[in-house]
Amino acid sequence: MKRIGVLTSGGDSPGMNAAIRAVVRTGVAKGLEVFGIHHGYQGMIDGEILPMDARSVSGIINRGGTILHTARCKAFMEAKGRALAARQLAQHGIEGLVAIGGDGTYHGADKLHAEHGIRCIGLPGTIDNDIGGTQYTIGFDTALNIAMEAVDRIRDTADSHDRLFFIEVMGRHSGFIAIMTSIAGGAEEVLVPEEACGISTIVERLQLAKSRGKTSMIVIIAEGDEQGNAFAVASKVAESSEFKDSRVSVVGHLQRGGSPTAFDRILASRMGVRAVEALVEGETGMMVGIQNQEMVLSPLSSTWEKRSEFSPDLLRVSRLLAT
Ligand code: F6P
Repeated sequence: MKRIGVLTSGGDSPGMNAAIRAVVRTGVAKGLEVFGIHHGYQGMIDGEILPMDARSVSGIINRGGTILHTARCKAFMEAKGRALAARQLAQHGIEGLVAIGGDGTYHGADKLHAEHGIRCIGLPGTIDNDIGGTQYTIGFDTALNIAMEAVDRIRDTADSHDRLFFIEVMGRHSGFIAIMTSIAGGAEEVLVPEEACGISTIVERLQLAKSRGKTSMIVIIAEGDEQGNAFAVASKVAESSEFKDSRVSVVGHLQRGGSPTAFDRILASRMGVRAVEALVEGETGMMVGIQNQEMVLSPLSSTWEKRSEFSPDLLRVSRLLAT
């Protein structure tokens, strides 16, 4: 194998650039030619494939987003789209691929290998931290810190006005960001998709907090919670309790941008190095993860068959400390 490609696909996450840098520089150090594929799988189909070298990734370890741009590509879900993409790779002599993204990215990589023999290694790039085979995904730590800072700022104004706030954080199907933000920000209550929680229970907990002398309160809501978004929860609580006057804040895409934390930069760098080493060793169909501080490989399919979930003990800790 002489030539490899690297792409980012799906939602961007802080630290993707650090991963690209690591892939390119490790590839160069191992005597490979490295190509950057722009706009994910759509760019692969369209032939947006450009050579990269060590200098083309200078000064990006500290930058959020992805210099390769990203996209969600419907055409690549079809065999016809993947055949077009494989033809482009063949024209550039690319035999190996590092695909940085979430499980949608891995489904595509798995099929590209099965149908066209391209060796593929995945790197977990998503703020949601819900991918099997790794304890941390690239971008989660940064997103969590941004959400925590948002809570800290809102706490100041909530305290000043003796107010109740509902704060929504990201996590499409996962409450990882929400539960961690709740503990780190000292929230009074947290709603996550992993736990069914009726409005009456939320109201009871808020009443208990009030009876204990709390004058301001913060409820964290994961965007994927079954009760709906933060506005819906605030209005349901208002309808069924004395908590009529609250405020809602949605942290939203702020969580996806900005300079990655040291943790995410280091994680992405280690994963990028391991991905290229794995390709050189002849591995394919695997994702690089971190378990107990070590880089580990897991089959791509296992990453979506068993998604990563937070320990229920975190809910206990959050509620115990909210008293
Ligand atoms: O998967 C990452 C994520 O940020 C989720 O937390 C969120 O639900 C989704 O992407 C938002 O996607 P988009 O940027 O397409 O609105």
